[in-house]
Amino acid sequence: MFHAALSGLFASCEGVEYVASRHHKAASVLADLRSGALTARLGACCDAAALTARLRSTRLRCGDATAAPLHFTHVYMYDKVFSDATSAALAVQLNRSRYRVLVSYRPHASWQALGLRGTQEVGHLVMRTTGGQNFRVYFLANTRDWTPQAGKARKARK
Ligand SMILES: C[S@@+](CC[C@H](N)C(=O)[O-])C[C@H]1O[C@@H](n2cnc3c(N)ncnc32)[C@H](O)[C@@H]1O
Repeated sequence: MFHAALSGLFASCEGVEYVASRHHKAASVLADLRSGALTARLGACCDAAALTARLRSTRLRCGDATAAPLHFTHVYMYDKVFSDATSAALAVQLNRSRYRVLVSYRPHASWQALGLRGTQEVGHLVMRTTGGQNFRVYFLANTRDWTPQAGKARKARK
C-alpha cells in the first residue's frame, strides 16, 4: 500500500489490517514518514517533500476487509496465506464492489472456485519479497461492467 501511495498514480490509498498491533505498527510508520523521515532517509537523491505530500491522502484502517464491500478502483491483497474461508468471504464482498482491478496471489481459477464472479485474468508477474522469496501475483480485471455495447461505442468514437 505504501508503494502504491508513493508511486503517485492514485488519488488516495487505503490500507486495511485486521490485527490491531500490525495496524498500529503501520500507522506509526505512516506518521513517521509524514513527519519528514523520508527527507532524512533519502537525502538529496529524490524530491522527498513531493513524496511526503503523496501520503496526505493515505489512510490506514483497522478492521475486517470481509465485513463490507471494497469500494476502491484497485484492490491489492497480500493474500498468500489467507484461508479459503477468508478468501471466500472476500469474494462475497468483491462481488458487491465496483472495483476495476484485483491484484492477488491467488490464481483466477481458485478465486472462481471460491465464488468470485465476473473477472478475467489480464496478466501476472513474479514478485520478489524482501525475504528473497518469489511469488506469482495475478492481475484480474472486473469484467462485470464490460458489455459488447460499450465496446462498440468505443470503436465508433475512434
Ligand atoms: C501477508 S500479511 C501482509 C501484511 C502487510 N499488510 C503487507 O502488505 O505487507 C497479510 C495480512 O492480512 C491480514 N488479514 C487477514 N485477514 C484479514 C481480514 N479479513 N481483514 C483485514 N486484514 C486481514 C493479516 O492480519 C496479515 O497481517
